[in-house]
Amino acid sequence: MSHATTDESVRALAGALARARHIAVLTGAGVSAESGIRTFRDTMEGLWKEFDPATLATPRAFARDPGTVSRWYDHRRLGCLAAEPNAAHNALAELERRTLARAGRFTLITQNVDRLHQRAGSRSVVELHGSIIEWRCTITGRRTTPPAKPLPAFPPPSPFHPEGLLRPDVVWFGEMLPESAVEAADEAARACDLFLSIGTSSVVYPAAGFIELAHDHGARVAEINPDATPLSSRAAWTIREKAGVALPGIVAAMPA
Ligand code: APR
Repeated sequence: MSHATTDESVRALAGALARARHIAVLTGAGVSAESGIRTFRDTMEGLWKEFDPATLATPRAFARDPGTVSRWYDHRRLGCLAAEPNAAHNALAELERRTLARAGRFTLITQNVDRLHQRAGSRSVVELHGSIIEWRCTITGRRTTPPAKPLPAFPPPSPFHPEGLLRPDVVWFGEMLPESAVEAADEAARACDLFLSIGTSSVVYPAAGFIELAHDHGARVAEINPDATPLSSRAAWTIREKAGVALPGIVAAMPA
């Protein structure tokens, strides 16, 4: 149990970040909240008010009604493309640059599908839940990045196969995570000495399991989230602030 004030935690975490050999970070929807990206747990807006997102994000929903599911994902894709990275994304990209500059290792594992980390300049991003910016053929698996305007038809026909459709390259409930992403996240969680959990409710597995794995392999864990999570007790430092407020302050407090 830590009784440190936020200021003390920020200072201690900043010092640890400046010295860590390998920093691994897990981000969730909270990191994109300040960019205005809505999550599944937000209520749906406008035309989509009647829908429960959990029932749209499944292979079965797509099989039953590919038109509605693809239209909803295209709406969200355009929302992600219109959004801008926020101060949290920028601070994480800066943290990666600083870590690499002193020959440390840095791995950013994200559950977000919006590509905002990459747009902020982060390089070593592991997309655990895929990306909504890319879509793939239901038959060949080939990927494409549609232009930043609505898809021409719902469901969108695949350009790669006459009987194929395009679907978002995201992981739906009940689907496997991409094997290469899981392997990269698993390796980083075992190898890192400092693990940051930022803006995730830590209830969706296997993603949340990487916090436990890192902790069990001896890494110190920091949690940045306005609210407590089921894994807060694993954290050496908890910073109960918004990521876009906390992260720039932590990076600024790092000793040179
Ligand atoms: N800064 C930091 N954390 C925040 C902020 C913020 N500005 N705003 C909200 N949060 C926190 C919330 O307190 C919550 O704990 O972010 C967390 C968001 O939790 P979820 O919506 O459950 O998001 P996430 O953990 O990414 O969900 C995992 O579940 O919805 C599916 O596949 C989807 O990748 C997603 C997965």
